[in-house]
Amino acid sequence: MIDSIQRRDKLSPNLLEVSNLSVNFETIDRTVEVLKDVSVTVGKEEVVGVVGESGSGKSTLAQVIVGVLDIPPARIMGGRILLEGKEILPHPENKVNFRGKGINMIFQEPLTSLNPVYSVHDQMEEAVNIGHPKLEKKEKEAIIRKSLAEVMIRDVEGVLNVYPHQLSGGMRQRVSIAMVLVQKPNLLILDEPTTGLDLIVQRKIISLIMNLKKEVLSSILLITHDLAVAANMCDRIYVMYAGRVVESGKMRDVLHDPKHPYTTMLKNSEPEGYANGAPLKVSSGAPPDLRHLPPGCAFNPRCPMAMDICRSKVPELKKLADNREVACWLYE
Ligand SMILES: Nc1ncnc2c1ncn2[C@@H]1O[C@H](COP(=O)(O)OP(=O)(O)O)[C@@H](O)[C@H]1O
Ligand code: SF4
Ligand SMILES: [Mg+2]
Repeated sequence: MIDSIQRRDKLSPNLLEVSNLSVNFETIDRTVEVLKDVSVTVGKEEVVGVVGESGSGKSTLAQVIVGVLDIPPARIMGGRILLEGKEILPHPENKVNFRGKGINMIFQEPLTSLNPVYSVHDQMEEAVNIGHPKLEKKEKEAIIRKSLAEVMIRDVEGVLNVYPHQLSGGMRQRVSIAMVLVQKPNLLILDEPTTGLDLIVQRKIISLIMNLKKEVLSSILLITHDLAVAANMCDRIYVMYAGRVVESGKMRDVLHDPKHPYTTMLKNSEPEGYANGAPLKVSSGAPPDLRHLPPGCAFNPRCPMAMDICRSKVPELKKLADNREVACWLYE
């Protein structure tokens, strides 16, 4: 039994492995450490969440993985990224855009991924050429229409003929989801895919992504400040604070028994559990300013459990039972 599990693990490594990634932003007058020693994995067909308040480094992490981070001002200080066992960071050319080559990303603001000067049809056509390069034109046209219908767009022909700015926010997000899905990514990164949309549209888009995931079987890395969204979608979760992973584990375990005081604070700040889709509000203190972090554990000014050691030494991420990890002096 153990043998067969080990064999299976060898045959199917993680789809994505980010190890010890550190990134700085460097400007003329200061250097800010935005990611510090971040390690994240995504298994095949797994939905993994990265949750944290604004400014915790989530989008920077996504941008490094996809290869769209601007270097400079950003600088990769260390770390390694493997996609399907192949090294994509460090890369000899330092920066390579992997969008459309196995990884793709749906951004918070769909206009980031849609080109304002091309009609929806022309952009969908380009996307289909990536995912289905060998098909005849007629078959490609059929796929374009099918995928727009799958994201619940009723007037497909009408939408095909317009430009992105002529669509509502919710419709733009649907088009950008359809566009990414026809490219058949192995790894789909969603960076705050529903932020700024109203609650009903948010719910529709989440259930849409989850249904489509069943069909295309991609792995998903979901980046969100919204614990409710993560709770609905994810198998596993990483909680980030001030550029570091402070807790990780199975979504269910972390929600039911958070180990890190910051995770507990996130959980308690959800007014009616996780089902209401309300944005994450953290009651105690302001999110950390990466330019002025306190010594020791970055969370110590807000932490009700803080001890002397927390104000002088940074806690390392430590493995606990059940594949959980936590970086907190309470567990040393
Ligand atoms: N282009 C940039 N130049 C300088 N600093 C940046 C830049 N982009 C992001 N940062 C810094 O990185 C921090 C983390 O940003 P980001 O990754 O966008 O966090 P999140 O997505 O969690 O809100 C920001 O608070 C900011 O200090
Ligand atoms: S290390 Fe200390 S300050 Fe940081 S979360 Fe744990 S108890 Fe709180
Ligand atoms: Mg962000």
